[in-house]
Amino acid sequence: MFGLIKKKASPLAFLKTLKTDFHSHLIPGIDDGVTSMEESLEIAKKFSDLGFEHIITTPHIYPGVYNNDPQIIKNGFEQVVNFYQKNDLNIKFSVAAEYYVDEVFLNNLKEDQELLTFGKNYLLLETAFHEPPMIFDEVIFLLKSRQITPIFAHPERYAYLQARPDMAGEFLKKGLVFQLNYLSLLGYYSERVRDVAIKFLKAGSYSFIGSDCHKPLQAELLSSPLPKKTLDLLSEASFLNPSLK
Ligand SMILES: [Fe+2]
Repeated sequence: MFGLIKKKASPLAFLKTLKTDFHSHLIPGIDDGVTSMEESLEIAKKFSDLGFEHIITTPHIYPGVYNNDPQIIKNGFEQVVNFYQKNDLNIKFSVAAEYYVDEVFLNNLKEDQELLTFGKNYLLLETAFHEPPMIFDEVIFLLKSRQITPIFAHPERYAYLQARPDMAGEFLKKGLVFQLNYLSLLGYYSERVRDVAIKFLKAGSYSFIGSDCHKPLQAELLSSPLPKKTLDLLSEASFLNPSLK
């Protein structure tokens, strides 16, 4: 019986090595993220306490659901920056977006519209839950032709990849780079998501890790103990987050 009890350990030393988090929803009122400046500040403080030096927040751009564009996002970002400054929060804070892959996004690419990228020309993408978009290849091709590297947010959360994890290899070959949601490892979304995350982690499929933090509770959970084996896998993964400092 005692053999079934998994040894857990603190993730604090690991989190300190990351330096940058580039997936969060910290601009109030423009997506399903924080609902007030105070919540945003609370989360940013937690990141600072955990040893992060840079937060790149990424509101959804999801036509018909969160009708954001670069200007709306930049305006909201300025207000958050001011609020952080008034409250003496000392952390580098930048903005990009999490783009939903659909026809509107494809048209944006074809028309060469402004895109909110970050770091060395990375762009964060998400897709529908049940099926990969038919236009995915075209989108990846157009991004790459603009020298933009598409980062695929939380592949472990998609039903289509859970059903066919072998598709991950095809996606990586096409030029997508994978970002693991940290909370997936805690079983926060479901056991299935956690199992797929561990599988991809073991296969070395992830280049980045992100919090995808929407609310203070999720930031609090970041310091929860993790199974020792999972922490060992994380340490071996050599995430590229610090390169975004
Ligand atoms: Fe997100």
